[in-house]
Amino acid sequence: TGRKHLAEMIESASVVLPFTGAGISTECGIPDFRSPGGLWTKNAPIPFGEFVASREMRDEAWRRRFVIEEQFGAAQPGRGHRALASLYRIGKAPAVVTQNIDNLHQASGVPEDDVVELHGNTTYALCLSCGRRYEVAWVKERFEVTDHAPDCTSCGGYIKTATVSFGQAMPEAAMRRAEALTLRCDLFLAIGSSLVVWPAAGFPMLAKRNGARLVILNREPTEFDEVADLVVHADIGNVLAPFVTH
Ligand code: OAD
Ligand code: ZN
Repeated sequence: TGRKHLAEMIESASVVLPFTGAGISTECGIPDFRSPGGLWTKNAPIPFGEFVASREMRDEAWRRRFVIEEQFGAAQPGRGHRALASLYRIGKAPAVVTQNIDNLHQASGVPEDDVVELHGNTTYALCLSCGRRYEVAWVKERFEVTDHAPDCTSCGGYIKTATVSFGQAMPEAAMRRAEALTLRCDLFLAIGSSLVVWPAAGFPMLAKRNGARLVILNREPTEFDEVADLVVHADIGNVLAPFVTH
């Protein structure tokens, strides 16, 4: 079966690179983006240009962020996160590359420096002008007082969750690191992603072209299934649970 092959492939690989999407966190109570009930299924994303162009949009973006705080704030790592943390701990995986913004790979014990976040992190916020860091709870408190999203207390800049919106530049260091890791691995595990958002979706093919084996673990088909060495259409937590070693 697919699961048995996955275990063998991980066993025989020397460098495994996990690359994750929102599907790894759904069992933790965090919705993904494109499934029924997903964040973009409910509301179209607010592009970066609209965020910076209007106060109404900034307020709306923050209101939406407060709505999901209950889920993000309470979430604990799931079986998938713990399995990948186990692969990291035993030295199989040098890092985890993620499109996720939920901080759960860090929470599962992978050191912050080895979680490569391609789309940033929604558990804190940054001033877009000076980079000053703010906590979501502080933004929420200010919002409740003024009924608007607060601006930076140092420079007056706009405060935004530390995520990468459509139209916003990709984090260069993370992109370079993800590329180097992709070129170093001999087994690339694409887990829980629809693989439709670029440039992130380019990494599985980069690994493949570089000679690595490619595994896709996702409930639904992706457009890269046909080039993968192994495709597992099943629940991530169930499939990865056997790899949890601590
Ligand atoms: P998507 O919502 O596009 O895809 C998640 C995939 O995970 C879907 O194909 C689901 O079928 C699958 N899935 C969900 N739960 C699963 C489970 N328990 N077991 C197996 N499969 C499961 O999310 P991403 O591909 O991560 O960017 O989305 C990519 C980017 O689009 C995100 O990083 C986000 C969004 O715009 C930003 O927020 C900047
Ligand atoms: Zn500032």
